[in-house]
Amino acid sequence: MEIFGVDIGGSGIKGAPVDLERGDLAQERYKVLTPHPATPKDVADHVAEVVGHFGWSGPVGITFPGVVTDGCTRSAANVDKSWIDAEARRILSDRLGLPVTLLNDADAAGIAEMAFGAGRGRGGTVIMLTFGTGIGSALFTDGRLVPNTELGHLELDGRDAETHASTKVKEDEGLGWHHWARRVQKYLMHVEMLFSPELFIIGGGVSRKADKFLPLIEHVRAEMVPAELQNNAGIVGAAMAASDRA
Ligand code: BGC
Repeated sequence: MEIFGVDIGGSGIKGAPVDLERGDLAQERYKVLTPHPATPKDVADHVAEVVGHFGWSGPVGITFPGVVTDGCTRSAANVDKSWIDAEARRILSDRLGLPVTLLNDADAAGIAEMAFGAGRGRGGTVIMLTFGTGIGSALFTDGRLVPNTELGHLELDGRDAETHASTKVKEDEGLGWHHWARRVQKYLMHVEMLFSPELFIIGGGVSRKADKFLPLIEHVRAEMVPAELQNNAGIVGAAMAASDRA
């Protein structure tokens, strides 16, 4: 069975039909640049371009880089502030003329990793963290998602953790792997102190370079593994959420 998945990010909007049996893209994904400013209406037009590229008509799962409750977007740390309290699911669904399921981007990536990637078969408390423009989180207890945890915004040393330890900050401040790994370590230790997870799944684009920084991280008791689905986790998880299998 196939469902369409779309991942809305700060730089790109990408999507593809997803094969739910394999947990993988059924066709090569299509990507457009995120418009600026990324208002709900402009983003909906671009999502329509991605979905239209495949001539898709059927349910669509869509991720958003902020809190999503009752189909409304409630926060907008790294996107246009007009998303706050927007009826995003209705706006997207009206534009596409298709049923839409909307969820947080890290939650979507986590759902996919738990089913098809690094979290397969893992019970207990598992936390997926995505390092990118911001820091996203997905918390699972015995395989069940607790949505919208927003652990990237925990306060660490009096500041918003993602403004200290995201990959964007690494790039903006020109930090080397050791320096950045120290910040990530401090952040992981803080999350561990609060939740005592058995497993951290480290996702986001930087997970491709896990060998450069995961070995540098000490003093974290939980197992730490890189995400396996990498760039496609959001698309796959969005499609899963739009099916009855999530
Ligand atoms: C947002 C989260 C999102 C994360 C990754 C954070 O700034 O608050 O909702 O999951 O960035 O995109």
